[in-house]
Amino acid sequence: MSETHHHSGAKTPEQITADVLASFDGCTDDRLRELMQALVRHLHGFVSEVKLTPEEWTRAIQTLTRTGHITDEHRQEFVLWSDSLGASMLVDAIENTLPDGATESTVLGPFYVPGSPLRVYGANIAQEGGAGVPARVQGRVLDTSGAPIAGAELDVWQNGEDQLYAVQRPEAPEDHLRGRFFTREDGTYAFVAVRPVPYPIPYDGPVGDMLERTGRHPWRPAHIHMIIRADGYRALTTHIFDQASEYLDSDAVFAVKPSLMREFIAHGADDPATPEGITTDWVSVHNDLVLAPAAAAGNGSQPA
Ligand code: BEZ
Ligand code: FE
Repeated sequence: MSETHHHSGAKTPEQITADVLASFDGCTDDRLRELMQALVRHLHGFVSEVKLTPEEWTRAIQTLTRTGHITDEHRQEFVLWSDSLGASMLVDAIENTLPDGATESTVLGPFYVPGSPLRVYGANIAQEGGAGVPARVQGRVLDTSGAPIAGAELDVWQNGEDQLYAVQRPEAPEDHLRGRFFTREDGTYAFVAVRPVPYPIPYDGPVGDMLERTGRHPWRPAHIHMIIRADGYRALTTHIFDQASEYLDSDAVFAVKPSLMREFIAHGADDPATPEGITTDWVSVHNDLVLAPAAAAGNGSQPA
Protein backbone atom coordinates (compact mmCIF):
# COMPACT_ATOMS: atom_id res chain seq x y z
CA MET A 1 0.00 0.00 0.00
CA SER A 2 2.74 2.47 0.92
CA GLU A 3 4.22 2.06 -2.55
CA THR A 4 1.22 3.48 -4.40
CA HIS A 5 0.94 7.15 -5.27
CA HIS A 6 -2.42 7.36 -3.58
CA HIS A 7 -2.72 8.73 -0.07
CA SER A 8 -3.87 6.04 2.25
CA GLY A 9 -7.62 5.92 2.00
CA ALA A 10 -7.69 7.56 -1.44
CA LYS A 11 -9.75 5.71 -4.00
CA THR A 12 -8.24 4.11 -7.06
CA PRO A 13 -9.59 5.12 -10.47
CA GLU A 14 -11.43 1.80 -10.61
CA GLN A 15 -13.09 2.50 -7.25
CA ILE A 16 -14.20 5.95 -8.36
CA THR A 17 -15.83 4.49 -11.46
CA ALA A 18 -17.46 1.69 -9.46
CA ASP A 19 -18.84 4.16 -6.89
CA VAL A 20 -20.38 6.40 -9.54
CA LEU A 21 -21.91 3.41 -11.33
CA ALA A 22 -23.37 2.15 -8.06
CA SER A 23 -24.88 5.57 -7.33
CA PHE A 24 -27.44 4.83 -10.08
CA ASP A 25 -28.39 1.36 -8.80
CA GLY A 26 -31.51 2.75 -7.13
CA CYS A 27 -32.84 4.44 -10.26
CA THR A 28 -36.25 2.88 -10.83
CA ASP A 29 -36.45 3.92 -14.50
CA ASP A 30 -34.66 0.95 -16.09
CA ARG A 31 -33.83 2.70 -19.34
CA LEU A 32 -32.52 5.82 -17.59
CA ARG A 33 -30.36 3.68 -15.30
CA GLU A 34 -28.97 1.82 -18.33
CA LEU A 35 -28.21 5.09 -20.14
CA MET A 36 -26.55 6.77 -17.16
CA GLN A 37 -24.44 3.78 -16.19
CA ALA A 38 -23.28 3.21 -19.77
CA LEU A 39 -22.52 6.93 -20.11
CA VAL A 40 -20.40 6.86 -16.94
CA ARG A 41 -18.66 3.66 -18.00
CA HIS A 42 -17.70 5.10 -21.38
CA LEU A 43 -16.84 8.58 -20.08
CA HIS A 44 -14.61 7.14 -17.38
CA GLY A 45 -13.18 4.68 -19.88
CA PHE A 46 -12.29 7.58 -22.16
CA VAL A 47 -10.66 9.61 -19.38
CA SER A 48 -8.70 6.56 -18.20
CA GLU A 49 -7.67 5.41 -21.68
CA VAL A 50 -6.18 8.75 -22.75
CA LYS A 51 -5.07 9.68 -19.21
CA LEU A 52 -6.81 13.00 -19.58
CA THR A 53 -4.90 15.83 -17.87
CA PRO A 54 -6.56 18.52 -15.73
CA GLU A 55 -5.65 21.11 -18.40
CA GLU A 56 -7.30 19.04 -21.13
CA TRP A 57 -10.44 18.56 -19.04
CA THR A 58 -10.63 22.31 -18.36
CA ARG A 59 -10.35 22.91 -22.08
CA ALA A 60 -13.08 20.43 -22.83
CA ILE A 61 -15.38 22.24 -20.38
CA GLN A 62 -14.50 25.57 -22.02
CA THR A 63 -15.36 24.12 -25.42
CA LEU A 64 -18.77 22.99 -24.16
CA THR A 65 -19.31 26.41 -22.58
CA ARG A 66 -18.51 28.11 -25.91
CA THR A 67 -20.86 25.68 -27.64
CA GLY A 68 -23.66 26.80 -25.32
CA HIS A 69 -22.90 30.48 -25.78
CA ILE A 70 -22.91 30.36 -29.60
CA THR A 71 -26.17 28.36 -29.74
CA ASP A 72 -29.48 30.19 -30.21
CA GLU A 73 -32.64 29.71 -32.27
CA HIS A 74 -30.69 30.29 -35.51
CA ARG A 75 -27.46 28.53 -34.61
CA GLN A 76 -27.37 24.92 -33.46
CA GLU A 77 -23.79 24.15 -32.45
CA PHE A 78 -24.78 21.03 -30.48
CA VAL A 79 -26.37 19.62 -33.65
CA LEU A 80 -23.11 20.37 -35.47
CA TRP A 81 -21.15 18.38 -32.86
CA SER A 82 -23.55 15.47 -33.23
CA ASP A 83 -23.33 15.63 -37.02
CA SER A 84 -19.57 16.22 -37.36
CA LEU A 85 -18.74 13.41 -34.91
CA GLY A 86 -21.03 11.01 -36.77
CA ALA A 87 -23.42 10.54 -33.84
CA SER A 88 -26.44 11.67 -35.88
CA MET A 89 -25.80 9.08 -38.59
CA LEU A 90 -25.06 6.37 -36.01
CA VAL A 91 -28.40 6.97 -34.28
CA ASP A 92 -30.07 6.96 -37.71
CA ALA A 93 -28.38 3.69 -38.70
CA ILE A 94 -29.38 1.94 -35.48
CA GLU A 95 -33.00 3.11 -35.57
CA ASN A 96 -33.67 2.64 -39.25
CA THR A 97 -34.42 -0.98 -39.89
CA LEU A 98 -36.31 -0.29 -43.11
CA PRO A 99 -38.36 -2.74 -45.13
CA ASP A 100 -36.97 -3.62 -48.57
CA GLY A 101 -37.37 -0.86 -51.13
CA ALA A 102 -38.10 1.96 -48.68
CA THR A 103 -36.17 5.19 -49.30
CA GLU A 104 -33.28 5.65 -46.89
CA SER A 105 -33.10 8.48 -44.38
CA THR A 106 -30.27 10.87 -43.62
CA VAL A 107 -29.48 13.83 -41.33
CA LEU A 108 -31.96 16.60 -40.58
CA GLY A 109 -29.21 19.18 -40.06
CA PRO A 110 -29.54 22.51 -38.26
CA PHE A 111 -31.32 24.54 -40.99
CA TYR A 112 -34.79 22.99 -40.90
CA VAL A 113 -37.45 25.53 -39.94
CA PRO A 114 -40.98 24.14 -39.39
CA GLY A 115 -43.98 25.92 -40.86
CA SER A 116 -42.91 26.39 -44.49
CA PRO A 117 -45.69 27.77 -46.72
CA LEU A 118 -47.96 25.34 -48.55
CA ARG A 119 -47.39 25.62 -52.30
CA VAL A 120 -49.26 24.22 -55.29
CA TYR A 121 -48.06 21.42 -57.58
CA GLY A 122 -45.18 22.69 -59.73
CA ALA A 123 -44.61 25.95 -57.80
CA ASN A 124 -41.23 27.64 -57.55
CA ILE A 125 -39.68 27.74 -54.07
CA ALA A 126 -37.20 30.52 -55.02
CA GLN A 127 -38.62 33.82 -53.75
CA GLU A 128 -35.75 35.93 -55.15
CA GLY A 129 -34.07 36.12 -58.54
CA GLY A 130 -30.46 35.02 -58.88
CA ALA A 131 -30.88 32.08 -56.51
CA GLY A 132 -29.24 29.66 -58.93
CA VAL A 133 -29.83 27.42 -61.94
CA PRO A 134 -33.55 26.48 -61.98
CA ALA A 135 -34.13 22.82 -61.17
CA ARG A 136 -37.40 20.97 -61.72
CA VAL A 137 -37.79 18.24 -59.10
CA GLN A 138 -40.49 15.65 -59.65
CA GLY A 139 -41.48 12.12 -58.82
CA ARG A 140 -43.98 10.04 -56.90
CA VAL A 141 -44.47 9.05 -53.30
CA LEU A 142 -45.16 5.31 -53.10
CA ASP A 143 -45.63 2.56 -50.55
CA THR A 144 -43.37 -0.50 -50.52
CA SER A 145 -45.77 -2.37 -52.82
CA GLY A 146 -45.38 0.39 -55.42
CA ALA A 147 -48.85 1.88 -54.88
CA PRO A 148 -49.04 5.69 -54.97
CA ILE A 149 -49.68 7.61 -51.75
CA ALA A 150 -52.07 10.53 -52.32
CA GLY A 151 -51.94 13.53 -49.99
CA ALA A 152 -48.42 12.86 -48.70
CA GLU A 153 -46.70 16.04 -47.53
CA LEU A 154 -43.22 16.96 -48.80
CA ASP A 155 -41.48 19.58 -46.65
CA VAL A 156 -38.45 20.80 -48.66
CA TRP A 157 -35.58 23.21 -48.00
CA GLN A 158 -32.26 23.90 -49.67
CA ASN A 159 -29.46 26.41 -50.13
CA GLY A 160 -28.97 28.82 -53.01
CA GLU A 161 -26.03 29.45 -55.31
CA ASP A 162 -24.54 31.67 -52.55
CA GLN A 163 -24.22 28.44 -50.46
CA LEU A 164 -26.62 29.80 -47.83
CA TYR A 165 -30.01 28.75 -46.48
CA ALA A 166 -32.53 31.57 -46.06
CA VAL A 167 -32.39 31.08 -42.28
CA GLN A 168 -28.70 32.07 -42.43
CA ARG A 169 -29.53 35.38 -44.17
CA PRO A 170 -31.52 37.82 -42.03
CA GLU A 171 -32.28 39.95 -45.13
CA ALA A 172 -33.72 37.07 -47.20
CA PRO A 173 -37.48 36.49 -47.58
CA GLU A 174 -38.35 34.06 -44.80
CA ASP A 175 -39.92 31.54 -47.19
CA HIS A 176 -37.10 31.59 -49.73
CA LEU A 177 -36.03 28.14 -50.99
CA ARG A 178 -38.44 26.22 -48.81
CA GLY A 179 -42.02 25.02 -49.08
CA ARG A 180 -44.52 22.25 -48.45
CA PHE A 181 -46.26 20.28 -51.20
CA PHE A 182 -48.96 17.58 -51.21
CA THR A 183 -48.89 14.67 -53.62
CA ARG A 184 -51.77 14.37 -56.10
CA GLU A 185 -54.16 11.38 -56.36
CA ASP A 186 -51.58 9.45 -58.41
CA GLY A 187 -48.84 10.12 -55.83
CA THR A 188 -47.04 12.65 -58.03
CA TYR A 189 -45.34 15.80 -56.79
CA ALA A 190 -43.37 18.51 -58.57
CA PHE A 191 -41.70 21.79 -57.73
CA VAL A 192 -39.14 24.17 -59.15
CA ALA A 193 -36.04 24.66 -57.02
CA VAL A 194 -32.49 25.64 -57.87
CA ARG A 195 -29.57 23.32 -58.40
CA PRO A 196 -28.06 22.98 -54.91
CA VAL A 197 -24.33 23.69 -54.44
CA PRO A 198 -21.77 22.29 -51.99
CA TYR A 199 -21.35 24.39 -48.87
CA PRO A 200 -19.36 24.39 -45.64
CA ILE A 201 -21.15 23.68 -42.36
CA PRO A 202 -20.81 26.74 -40.10
CA TYR A 203 -17.13 26.77 -39.06
CA ASP A 204 -16.79 29.99 -37.06
CA GLY A 205 -17.42 28.21 -33.74
CA PRO A 206 -15.97 25.38 -31.67
CA VAL A 207 -16.87 22.70 -34.24
CA GLY A 208 -15.02 24.70 -36.91
CA ASP A 209 -12.00 24.94 -34.60
CA MET A 210 -12.06 21.17 -34.15
CA LEU A 211 -12.27 20.59 -37.93
CA GLU A 212 -9.40 22.98 -38.59
CA ARG A 213 -7.11 21.68 -35.83
CA THR A 214 -7.69 18.07 -36.90
CA GLY A 215 -7.12 18.71 -40.60
CA ARG A 216 -10.74 18.05 -41.58
CA HIS A 217 -12.74 20.16 -44.06
CA PRO A 218 -16.25 21.52 -43.38
CA TRP A 219 -17.84 20.83 -46.81
CA ARG A 220 -21.05 19.00 -47.62
CA PRO A 221 -21.91 17.76 -51.14
CA ALA A 222 -24.81 19.48 -52.96
CA HIS A 223 -28.23 18.29 -51.79
CA ILE A 224 -31.90 19.17 -51.35
CA HIS A 225 -33.52 18.35 -48.00
CA MET A 226 -36.97 16.87 -47.58
CA ILE A 227 -39.21 15.41 -44.90
CA ILE A 228 -42.10 13.29 -46.21
CA ARG A 229 -45.11 12.70 -43.96
CA ALA A 230 -48.24 10.64 -44.69
CA ASP A 231 -50.88 9.12 -42.41
CA GLY A 232 -50.14 5.48 -41.74
CA TYR A 233 -46.51 5.77 -42.82
CA ARG A 234 -43.29 6.45 -41.05
CA ALA A 235 -42.06 10.04 -41.52
CA LEU A 236 -38.92 10.13 -43.65
CA THR A 237 -36.15 12.74 -43.31
CA THR A 238 -33.88 12.52 -46.31
CA HIS A 239 -31.90 14.29 -49.08
CA ILE A 240 -31.57 14.22 -52.83
CA PHE A 241 -27.81 14.33 -53.50
CA ASP A 242 -26.51 15.64 -56.82
CA GLN A 243 -24.48 12.69 -58.10
CA ALA A 244 -22.14 15.10 -59.94
CA SER A 245 -21.26 17.04 -56.77
CA GLU A 246 -17.87 17.38 -55.16
CA TYR A 247 -17.45 15.99 -51.61
CA LEU A 248 -19.75 12.98 -52.02
CA ASP A 249 -16.93 10.83 -50.65
CA SER A 250 -15.94 13.14 -47.80
CA ASP A 251 -19.15 14.71 -46.46
CA ALA A 252 -18.25 16.59 -43.24
CA VAL A 253 -21.26 14.99 -41.52
CA PHE A 254 -21.00 11.43 -42.98
CA ALA A 255 -24.55 11.62 -44.36
CA VAL A 256 -24.15 10.39 -47.97
CA LYS A 257 -25.95 7.17 -48.89
CA PRO A 258 -25.41 6.02 -52.50
CA SER A 259 -29.12 5.19 -52.89
CA LEU A 260 -29.94 8.91 -52.45
CA MET A 261 -27.73 10.16 -55.33
CA ARG A 262 -29.58 11.38 -58.42
CA GLU A 263 -28.62 12.71 -61.85
CA PHE A 264 -29.47 16.36 -62.52
CA ILE A 265 -30.15 16.50 -66.27
CA ALA A 266 -29.35 19.68 -68.24
CA HIS A 267 -31.99 21.35 -70.48
CA GLY A 268 -31.79 24.37 -72.76
CA ALA A 269 -34.09 27.36 -72.34
CA ASP A 270 -35.71 26.33 -75.67
CA ASP A 271 -36.68 22.83 -74.42
CA PRO A 272 -40.48 22.48 -74.84
CA ALA A 273 -40.61 20.98 -71.32
CA THR A 274 -39.23 24.20 -69.77
CA PRO A 275 -41.33 25.03 -66.68
CA GLU A 276 -43.48 28.15 -66.82
CA GLY A 277 -41.64 31.31 -65.82
CA ILE A 278 -38.17 29.88 -66.56
CA THR A 279 -36.27 31.72 -69.31
CA THR A 280 -32.76 30.35 -68.79
CA ASP A 281 -31.12 26.94 -69.12
CA TRP A 282 -32.30 24.62 -66.37
CA VAL A 283 -31.89 21.13 -64.94
CA SER A 284 -34.31 18.39 -63.95
CA VAL A 285 -34.16 15.59 -61.43
CA HIS A 286 -36.52 12.67 -61.00
CA ASN A 287 -36.90 11.22 -57.54
CA ASP A 288 -39.45 8.67 -56.34
CA LEU A 289 -39.83 8.30 -52.58
CA VAL A 290 -40.93 5.05 -50.95
CA LEU A 291 -42.37 5.19 -47.43
CA ALA A 292 -42.32 2.41 -44.85
CA PRO A 293 -45.59 1.64 -43.07
CA ALA A 294 -45.84 3.11 -39.57
CA ALA A 295 -46.01 -0.40 -38.12
CA ALA A 296 -42.55 -1.20 -39.50
CA ALA A 297 -40.91 1.40 -37.25
CA GLY A 298 -37.59 0.28 -35.76
CA ASN A 299 -38.18 -1.68 -32.57
CA GLY A 300 -35.61 0.25 -30.53
CA SER A 301 -38.31 2.39 -28.96
CA GLN A 302 -40.84 -0.38 -28.30
CA PRO A 303 -41.36 -1.24 -24.63
CA ALA A 304 -39.90 -4.65 -23.81
C1 BEZ B 1 -27.38 20.43 -43.68
O1 BEZ B 1 -27.35 19.67 -44.61
O2 BEZ B 1 -28.16 21.38 -43.73
C2 BEZ B 1 -26.44 20.23 -42.54
C3 BEZ B 1 -26.36 18.99 -41.96
C4 BEZ B 1 -25.47 18.81 -40.90
C5 BEZ B 1 -24.69 19.86 -40.45
C6 BEZ B 1 -24.78 21.11 -41.06
C7 BEZ B 1 -25.65 21.29 -42.14
FE1 FE C 1 -28.09 21.04 -46.06
